[in-house]
Order: sequence, then structure tokens, then C-alpha cells
Amino acid sequence: MSKPPNPSAALAASSPTGSAVVAPASKLITPEMVAESPRVRIFIRKADEALAEIGYTEHGERHVTLVSNIAFNVLKRLGYPEREAELAKIAALLHDIGNAVNRDHHAQTSAVMAMQILSDMGMPDLEVVRVMSAIGNHHENDGDPVSPVAAAVILGDKSDVHRTRVRNPDMIKFDIHDRVNYAVTKSFLNVDEGARSIVLELTVDNEISQVMEYFEIFMTRMLACRKAAKFLGTSFGLVVNGNRLT
Ligand SMILES: [Fe+2]
Ligand SMILES: [Fe+2]
Repeated sequence: MSKPPNPSAALAASSPTGSAVVAPASKLITPEMVAESPRVRIFIRKADEALAEIGYTEHGERHVTLVSNIAFNVLKRLGYPEREAELAKIAALLHDIGNAVNRDHHAQTSAVMAMQILSDMGMPDLEVVRVMSAIGNHHENDGDPVSPVAAAVILGDKSDVHRTRVRNPDMIKFDIHDRVNYAVTKSFLNVDEGARSIVLELTVDNEISQVMEYFEIFMTRMLACRKAAKFLGTSFGLVVNGNRLT
């Protein structure tokens, strides 16, 4: 069977200047199309498998789906346009795929991988670049809320702390990250559009981990959440077992 013609190549050849003009992609790519893409699903699974090998908590389909729903809801509740919220959802679905390459600099790697995937699907460059910069800025050590889409992904990602992320409950004796995640039996990011506030509400089992351990591990994450919330014109608070801590 012969290969189908490359439409970009055809367009470049017919350009009056002879330069390599590539037709702007113009397909509306929905979060569902991204979530259901076999290619995306492979990358998410392989990224999670790589992290399992080096002892990290779950970063697979459960994590990215949850983050995408939170990111979407944050922007919707705060009155951002539907498409903005959809871009946050797409960015969140793809934000950790770079872990398939390496944990270090995975935010930036994920962004470049997302560019290839979304461009191949036909997303316009002006949307691709917004998704890329949100993904490339999601990590608390080297990222910033550079846009509402980025801020929403940060809030979704950093607030995913939960028992179900721990792969091996036996490890909670030894690993503080696992212990802190395992201790959280309920987590909910409460967005109050009227009060312009975002509050992470956690139920923590103090028998497993003390609140101080939570702070020790998640201080930088909470600061990232506060910065992201501020970018969206809201305050950020943390409530643990009904007590307001920040
Ligand atoms: Fe990440
Ligand atoms: Fe993540």
C-alpha cells in the first residue's frame, strides 16, 4: 500500500515563495480526545511504571485524571472561559508523561512530548504553546504560575495527596512520603468563587502520620498552591481535620 500524501509537504511545495509554509492546524482537540488517545495512554502508563521502579507514589491514570478534573473545575468555578478550562484539563492529562524519559526535568520533557502529541492531533499552535507552558511550569521546584492554565494545573497536582497513591503500604514504616500520603484518607480542594478562596481540606489519620510530617514534606507544595491561587486572584488555605492551618 502506498503512503498517504503529507499535506504539509504538499502545501510547502505549492507556496508562492517556495519557503516551507506549513498549514496552520485548526482542529478542536477536546480533553476526551486526548484522554482516549492510545498514544497518550501508553505514555501515561510507561511514565508511571518508570516511577514505580524508583519508588515514587502513583502518577498514572488515576493521578492525571484527578488533576485534570480539579484543574478544569478550578477555572470553571472562578469564571474562566470553557476553552481555558479545557486547556487546563488537557495540560493536566499530559503533565507527567515526561517521567517516562527521566524524573529530572520531567515537567519540561512532558511539555515537549505534549507539543508533538497535540500538534500531530491537529491542535493550533496558539493553544499548543499554552498547554506546553502550563505543563513545563507544574513542578514546585522550577515552575511558576505563568497563566491561569498553569495555575490550575499546579493547584490540581499539588493537592493530590491520598492513601490510594501509596503502592506498597508496608513502606509507610520507612518512607515519609508514603506515610504522609497513606495518612490522608480524604482530600478535597474547595473553590469558593464568592469568597475568592481555595481551600485544601484534608482528613489525616494521626495514628499514621503527624501533621508536622505533612508540613515537612508538603511545605513547598503548599507555597506553590498559594502562589497559584494568588495568580488566580484568590487566597489559599489548608484545613486539616477541621482545623485551619494556613
Ligand atoms: Fe510532575
Ligand atoms: Fe503530577
